[in-house]
Amino acid sequence: MARGDLMLRLYRFRDLPALRRLLKPEIFPAASGSQVKAFGSSASLWWWMRRTFQVFYVIEIDKREGRRMIGFAGVYNMEPRNSLWVSLVIFDQKDRRHGYGRRALELLLSSFQKNHVAKTVCGEVLASNTGSLRFLKKLGFHIFSQDGNRVLLKFEYPAACGGVRTCPSINGPFSDEQRSPRVSICGVRRRVRLNENPCAALLIEKIAHF
Ligand SMILES: CC(C)(COP(=O)(O)OP(=O)(O)OC[C@H]1O[C@@H](n2cnc3c(N)ncnc32)[C@H](O)[C@@H]1OP(=O)(O)O)[C@@H](O)C(=O)NCCC(=O)NCCS
Repeated sequence: MARGDLMLRLYRFRDLPALRRLLKPEIFPAASGSQVKAFGSSASLWWWMRRTFQVFYVIEIDKREGRRMIGFAGVYNMEPRNSLWVSLVIFDQKDRRHGYGRRALELLLSSFQKNHVAKTVCGEVLASNTGSLRFLKKLGFHIFSQDGNRVLLKFEYPAACGGVRTCPSINGPFSDEQRSPRVSICGVRRRVRLNENPCAALLIEKIAHF
């Protein structure tokens, strides 16, 4: 998925060393308040990514000097056809305020819409993280809840934009294979178990390969 010189793609195993170098633990407390320890190895980073996100994209820019990774976007808490949560980080302060975050999130939002993935896309930031709050509001998110210092925002697609199709196979009973089918995500066949809903796996596969 690309817009101009900015690209979003699924991470690959060979990205892990670069991601480990760029994904500094100090990014997290200021952004979302979560404490993430330094990743001691690529395996610990991979395990954290797997535990935290259902889909993990890297953001790259392609300049005359070459292509480089500048950030990531992770999808979590996915309730297929209903809602999902997104985390977005531009790693380096020097790369912020160049419009990269906006372009990356716009690409994701339009892909989710095109694929009828969710009606609502949510994000979470610290109230003290005023820059990110402004960022999300500028992209059409609005606050729906505040829990202490945590601010929860959502973006709702207008119904006129096609809405969300219902999944034809949503009625049970489901076999084990339907409940947690194996799909190929980031080049790895793995079982997906989401809300006991076989559509979830199909959707994840869709947004993983747009
Ligand atoms: C939030 C973040 C992803 C924004 O990425 P970015 O590439 O710097 O943002 P953009 O340049 O695309 O900004 C788009 C608009 O958002 C607003 N914005 C972004 N950062 C801002 C800041 N620090 N202060 C005020 N407004 C800001 C501005 O309105 C900006 O438009 P403008 O530059 O024309 O004024 C980036 O700052 C970041 O990685 N922060 C740490 C992680 C984080 O907090 N993530 C939470 C979001 S899920």
